[in-house]
Amino acid sequence: MGESWLARMAAGVLVGVALAACAVGGGVADEVNLVPLPSEVEILPAGFALDEPMVISAPPEAAAVAGHLVRAVLDATGRRPELGAAGAVRLSLDAPQAGAEGYDLVVDPDGVRLSAATPAGLFWGVQTLRQLLPTGPGRQIDGIRVSDRPRFAWRGAMLDVARHFFAVADVKRYIDLISAYKLNVLHLHLSDDQGWRLAIDGWPDLTAVGGSTEIGGGPGGFYDADDYREIVAYARDRFVEIVPEIDLPGHTNAALASYAELNCDGRRREPYTGMKVGFSALCVGSPATDRFVSDVVAAVARLTPGPYLHIGGDEVQTLSAQEYAAFVERAQELVRATGKRMVGWQEIGKAKLAADSITQFWQTNDPPDEVQQAVRQGGKLVMSPASRVYLDMKYDADTRIGLDWAGFVEVRDAYEWDPATVVQGVGEQDVLGVETPLWTETVETIADVEYLAFPRLPAVAEVAWSPQRARSFDRFAARLASHAALWKRWDVTYHRSPQIPWAD
Ligand code: ACM
Repeated sequence: MGESWLARMAAGVLVGVALAACAVGGGVADEVNLVPLPSEVEILPAGFALDEPMVISAPPEAAAVAGHLVRAVLDATGRRPELGAAGAVRLSLDAPQAGAEGYDLVVDPDGVRLSAATPAGLFWGVQTLRQLLPTGPGRQIDGIRVSDRPRFAWRGAMLDVARHFFAVADVKRYIDLISAYKLNVLHLHLSDDQGWRLAIDGWPDLTAVGGSTEIGGGPGGFYDADDYREIVAYARDRFVEIVPEIDLPGHTNAALASYAELNCDGRRREPYTGMKVGFSALCVGSPATDRFVSDVVAAVARLTPGPYLHIGGDEVQTLSAQEYAAFVERAQELVRATGKRMVGWQEIGKAKLAADSITQFWQTNDPPDEVQQAVRQGGKLVMSPASRVYLDMKYDADTRIGLDWAGFVEVRDAYEWDPATVVQGVGEQDVLGVETPLWTETVETIADVEYLAFPRLPAVAEVAWSPQRARSFDRFAARLASHAALWKRWDVTYHRSPQIPWAD
């Protein structure tokens, strides 16, 4: 950044006020290595020197956000800022124009001024500042003015903790990493054929039996209510909403192995640790299944402060269309009775949906009829096209882990698409946001997760946050290259994609 800073300072002297007209994409914004690209960036002629101990001031409602900034500055510079009144670094909640999640940032010789309408906006501004901080003591933050608003409200990642279990500390680590790139949703895939990962009152065998397996025969695991609350609180402190998914009525072998009465023949299934999909389904329409689904939905809703509850609904191959639709409609009724909005994979488009239910597009190999049906019913979409944003797809034939049923997905594939044009008949107004799922059939450790997420997750974060007209893969790749230094500092495992011009 030093060289471009000098070049810009020289140019700034020459063009002066012309710079006041902000440029986006292909202009000054791309000279600062911010990911995701902000909506407006202006380079200012002089920055803020970090030679004094930094003092940060913030209103009481933003004290927690200021705490995140303290840790970020300490991490980058090795010097701990103080919190105090009238600091040179000022966080304020006096920018109503910034909306629910936007922020305005100015760095100049007088200091750093970060303003937003909400603590969430300030937090995303702090993530921008983290990328602007110099590393090491005695440097400056270059002069800049940023005015930034997200394109989409739902900017998600999904982690499958069912195929392989991930401990609370791993989930927190992933929350840290996704929120650094301004993602605000972590969808947890909490149940599948190979494991049930959340304790449900009154159904102890779901975790005692269903929680004890995972792909490959490992010990599995589960979250009790306190673990889950700890994850939710950690996420909320980073303005990330946890969206819990209990996958129903298929992908349910772990439940079917835990309780005999959930099977139409009254016999428990054997625990399953393989990779095949589509073979399992609850005994839909039975009183036992209805009691089970009611209890599970109520329990998950009680534990989850956020507005969404994901009921899965994907890849059910053993039910008739009528049985499937009736099940989804009953699940929707139960979810709505808890005051939550139902989310489901795209197959739920075949059922009669409430207008506030959300459909998640994923299957790029099939015609998108179900997705179009969901939109015709008034619903909004979360876009997770597998051939673009499934982080479990291999980068190329040599990738050590991952699958390839949706094709190889390199960084350019993850970046170069527009959520508003990917499905015929679905436009910007139908899209609530973008989510990048990571299924864990072949993924066993958090280092595996990171290897598949980086650098594709930052690419998807830019798809979700930045204006479409400002995005270009080559300029993104150039900006992203410098992030390897951040990942090194954060000890992030990543793929050295040949599509990124890494600096070293
Ligand atoms: C899915 O990938 N089965 C949603």
